[in-house]
Amino acid sequence: MKSVRIDASKSYDVLIAPGLAAETGARVKELLNPDACMIAADDRVYELYGEEVRRSLESASIRTSVFTFLHGESSKNLATYQALLERMCAERITRTDIVVALGGGVTGDMAGFAAATYQRGIRFVQVPTTLLAMVDSSVGGKTAVDLPQGKNMVGAFCQPSLVLCDTKTLTTLPAEEFACGCAEIIKYAMIESEPFFESLEETPIADQLEEVISTCVAMKRDYVNRDEFDTGDRIFLNFGHTFGHAIEACSGFSILHGQGVAIGMAVMTRAAAARGLCPESAVERLVALLKRYDLPTVSPYRRELLLSAALSDKKAQGGTVRLVVPERIGKCFVEPVPKNQIGEWMRDGGIVP
Ligand SMILES: NC(=O)c1ccc[n+]([C@@H]2O[C@H](COP(=O)([O-])OP(=O)(O)OC[C@H]3O[C@@H](n4cnc5c(N)ncnc54)[C@H](O)[C@@H]3O)[C@@H](O)[C@H]2O)c1
Repeated sequence: MKSVRIDASKSYDVLIAPGLAAETGARVKELLNPDACMIAADDRVYELYGEEVRRSLESASIRTSVFTFLHGESSKNLATYQALLERMCAERITRTDIVVALGGGVTGDMAGFAAATYQRGIRFVQVPTTLLAMVDSSVGGKTAVDLPQGKNMVGAFCQPSLVLCDTKTLTTLPAEEFACGCAEIIKYAMIESEPFFESLEETPIADQLEEVISTCVAMKRDYVNRDEFDTGDRIFLNFGHTFGHAIEACSGFSILHGQGVAIGMAVMTRAAAARGLCPESAVERLVALLKRYDLPTVSPYRRELLLSAALSDKKAQGGTVRLVVPERIGKCFVEPVPKNQIGEWMRDGGIVP
């Protein structure tokens, strides 16, 4: 088993191994000793892993209730959040009890936000079941729900008490969703480490899951330790996201987050190469690695449409946008770019007018 300790405003372990979901009850009992627990999961994930987790909690003498909701980003909203809170009230969850977020980033973000705000905050445990949630969203304490006006518009910083990454759950993950996690993994390699990028070129991610997940979590830990509340360095984790979010938004979210990030990284790296800021070979290697996971690398949307989506993103408020630009594989820098020049970066990144 791999283990990464996070020392943010709250310290906690991220454990990575096959079979951990079935150990949720024993581990929660030992660490947190709650009387009661609310499992939050989407319908798909609950059907696959819910009963296993519920049984393990009940075997540890923890009174367990379940809240399920329809899978998908469209459930990450105030209505689902409110329904979960009301369920917690009805089940008499108290301040010493816990929430277990079982599922992907949608569940972790929404249930984490409910835990962060219920009775001014109770403890929660993440049991991520997507690769994206294991390497990214379950760690670092960002919780949120979407508003009709935009993604993650209402949320809180709140660290979990424990993260259990059961790699066995990834065997049922659809290939497209697995690939989205791969996009985030490739992002870590691009911003942080050429040797890690090389290891991804040499060995498929599925063949080195525990190693890759723990490497990414350790990288995220370092960013979170330096900048828990996202006012500085954590922006590097946004590589590929400025244009990626815009592509997701243009598609009405039919293009998945990881797919948008893959296109966003490719566009940004092409733009950097066109401006002489990074070698052309970085573009070739990045695109080749993304394609290995069937990830898209070209925007299906024209510049005008993409530009208006990019400039209405919540991270693009003010006169400038801080772009994360690759200098080479494994190293990026932050470039504050006036909003009226973002279209030129898109052009240089190969997005047609
Ligand atoms: N908090 C953060 O720091 C952070 C970081 C990145 C992304 N996010 C958020 O994460 C969300 C995306 O997360 P996601 O990609 O995990 O989406 P998701 O939670 O919607 O899961 C994707 C799909 O996979 C299914 N699924 C999950 N686990 C499965 C399994 N083991 N087997 C079969 N099916 C399974 C789900 O039912 C869902 O249909 C977005 O809302 C994004 O904003 C948050």
